[in-house]
Amino acid sequence: MAFPIISPSEAAELIKNGDNVGFSGFTASGSPKVIPTAIAEKAIKEHEEGRPFKISIFTGASTNRWADGALAKANAIDRRTPYQNTPDLRLRINAHDCHYFDLHLSELAQKFRYNTYGDLDVAIIEVAKVFDNGEVILGTGVGNIPTFARNAKKIFLELNEKLPEGMYGLHDIYIPLDPPNRREIPIFKPSDRIGVPVLKLDPAKIAGIVHSDSYDGVGGFTALDDTTLQIGANVCNFLIGEVRAGRIPKTFLPIQSGVGNVANAVLFGLGDAKELPPFEMYTEVIQDAVIDLMKMGRCKFGSTCSLTLSDDKEAEVLSDLDFFRDKIVLRPAEISNNPEVIRRLGVIAMNTALEADIFGNINSTHVVGTKMMNGIGGSGDFTRNGYISIFSCPSVTKGGLISNIVPMVSHTDHNEHSVDVIITEQGVADIRGLDPVQRAEKIIDNCANPMYRPLLHDYLKLAKGGQTPHSLHAALAFHTTFLQCGDMSKTDWAKYE
Ligand code: COA
Repeated sequence: MAFPIISPSEAAELIKNGDNVGFSGFTASGSPKVIPTAIAEKAIKEHEEGRPFKISIFTGASTNRWADGALAKANAIDRRTPYQNTPDLRLRINAHDCHYFDLHLSELAQKFRYNTYGDLDVAIIEVAKVFDNGEVILGTGVGNIPTFARNAKKIFLELNEKLPEGMYGLHDIYIPLDPPNRREIPIFKPSDRIGVPVLKLDPAKIAGIVHSDSYDGVGGFTALDDTTLQIGANVCNFLIGEVRAGRIPKTFLPIQSGVGNVANAVLFGLGDAKELPPFEMYTEVIQDAVIDLMKMGRCKFGSTCSLTLSDDKEAEVLSDLDFFRDKIVLRPAEISNNPEVIRRLGVIAMNTALEADIFGNINSTHVVGTKMMNGIGGSGDFTRNGYISIFSCPSVTKGGLISNIVPMVSHTDHNEHSVDVIITEQGVADIRGLDPVQRAEKIIDNCANPMYRPLLHDYLKLAKGGQTPHSLHAALAFHTTFLQCGDMSKTDWAKYE
């Protein structure tokens, strides 16, 4: 069956105000690149002519500047979930121009299959190859494509010239049965394959194929500095200590590593930590550092939802697929982040915090408690179910004006019951088996920046009450002081005594 080749604007014409639209991909990887920009152009025109035009967008995770970026700039997004990270969309979300709801990434597909968010009108899916029978080879990020494709009334494909047919065999496409008929997801090691390498689409739903020709445009990382390098070294030393003590098997356990600069530095550290054996990953993103670790033989295998690579690294991998094909499997988000599998495999979960409090609660999403940064992403899927759940961050931000260790987090994403270890460049706080006050002392002494330690100890003296002492009056004083004068270190407990 020959499918119609159409232009991005012809596809955009078929998308209506109020549509629910599913995008392929996970992070910028595998996200559509040309149709969303055409939809944004259509939205601008509609707005100029006085007509409303907004669509709801469902994705695997964040997308790219041509999708979330362009659509947010055009103020064309009504509802949006789950993760995002483009500056323009962040502004819309925090102004409530866009109704964003943050969700654990593993949950979206099943919620869609139960019709929680209404019908899916359109799916826009980037592919490497379309076969005449409607089967497709997907691109660098899977996200929620299988469910979006199953549910969508209409599908547009973006056939990206940069993606070689040699990607065949990288993907493992599988949709679990839904409750009450769900069976075990039969993954017993990261490299197990349980599905098929191609996605079968209903040919009758394919409304058109649009050509594109662009790498994913993943943003680069900030260069490693003394702080991030030290965090990476502290994480590795902690893991080495766990292996020596027998709390992690000598053969090691699969690793999950989060997103961002700090996560990248942690991975870099693993390259040098030769006392740890070569390891496998069961994770949701493979960043540049992992590709280097694979080439060095330090990372043996990566199960992931996406290859979140800079353009140069993406080109390097796509031109050397024979090397990588037996080292990588790309899975849908509900499998890469599946709580059952994460718990079974004993994944070591390593994620990044914006701030941690002295009792072990973590804020990963809200700047000073109110402004959405990116979203929870998969950090909750892994943290709650990991064998050991580690959070790392620098001890201070903005040159010390912000302490990332605070008396009480200004927003809670991961609570004290799920968090095992907190690591900054100052050191490691292993809080397993400690009561809240013991935890507080360890986190302050081992992780807080020395310039904030006396203030935090003084807070603990001020704090009163039972199992978890607090001064409810003063608990957010670091944040309110920062909002008043731009410097948390100016917090004055005398005002709260
Ligand atoms: N208060 C206010 N701002 C803070 C802050 C704090 N306590 N801590 C960090 N920031 C700011 C930094 O200054 C920086 O701002 P800038 O962009 O203006 O320079 C920004 O937050 C990012 O900080 P950085 O230290 O570069 O961290 P990162 O790139 O490692 O990202 C998260 C950290 C938490 C934002 C990121 O990991 C994230 O979105 N996590 C949630 C999702 C997740 O964990 N997914 C992984 C599952 S696999």
